[in-house]
Amino acid sequence: MSRPAVLVARKVFAETTDRLARHFEVERNDDDRIFTKAELSAKLRGKAGCFVTGSERIDAELLDANPQLRAVCNMAVGYNNIDVDACNARGVLATNTPDVLTETTADFGFALMMSAARRMAESEHYLRRGEWTRWAYDMFIGSDVHGATLGILGMGRIGQAIARRGALGFGMQVIYHNRSRLPPEQEAPLGARYVGKDELLREADHLVLVVPYSAASHHAIAAAELALMKPSATLTNVARGGVVDDAALAAALRERRIAAAALDVFEGEPQVHPDLLTVPNIVLTPHIASATVATRRAMADLAADNLIAALTGAAPPTPINPQVLPLRPS
Ligand code: DGY
Repeated sequence: MSRPAVLVARKVFAETTDRLARHFEVERNDDDRIFTKAELSAKLRGKAGCFVTGSERIDAELLDANPQLRAVCNMAVGYNNIDVDACNARGVLATNTPDVLTETTADFGFALMMSAARRMAESEHYLRRGEWTRWAYDMFIGSDVHGATLGILGMGRIGQAIARRGALGFGMQVIYHNRSRLPPEQEAPLGARYVGKDELLREADHLVLVVPYSAASHHAIAAAELALMKPSATLTNVARGGVVDDAALAAALRERRIAAAALDVFEGEPQVHPDLLTVPNIVLTPHIASATVATRRAMADLAADNLIAALTGAAPPTPINPQVLPLRPS
């Protein structure tokens, strides 16, 4: 019996692709070219499965052009690149990689928040420009993280891991807003208080966004929301570009309506809104919150586990839409 064919749409660890090749006919993308939509669709012809990352859009048109496709396995926890309703309607399994990146992403979110509060990137640029000639009492004066109020928008696994760092490591008061309130036994160890969105914006000294991207969270932080924040507050986004209106944020930073921001994700990335590149009080990183060797390996392994299970009749460990199981035969 011939083995199913799969596409690995981006370059990943050779061990991951080699492992998939023990089960499937694998088409690799070792040049790591980003396929256009038409190229991706053409590459998927005859493929039963696809290993993707957040950079490939899986939508109804692509699925209709490839009716043999049965599983789309994302190497990312966020899956706003996949139209899950379109997958459901066609019986295509979608999977993601939750849990394995929680702590690593929380570390990075916390680090970004700290570097915004303590003006690390801004002061480093100053030093590199050779402008540091003397000490001054107010040179790069920032705001404390310890003991401050940590506001979290989106209290899922990563939000809770950031809250834990703040509450237990830095004595912060944690307030959060989420679609649903956590049960008391999850709130209690964090001392976390559920508040409305406006109260979150008004009260947070450091606001961290960890909310999944959807039509409902598009521009959840725009000019009106920024206007509610304290002038001394910082904003950190490790969720998705598009949750923040980047133009409005750049204006708020330039006019010092908030103190500083730290962004790992951008609307339209890898393009970055040009205004964000010219404001000084910001830390910018290229979507690397989950980028440690161990975590990226774990994400790749989990995405491969999902693909292997899906196409060999086993239970995929982390399905997004388990209701489509068992999968139809190819
Ligand atoms: C995720 O997993 O969603 C990250 O943003 C990609 O590293």
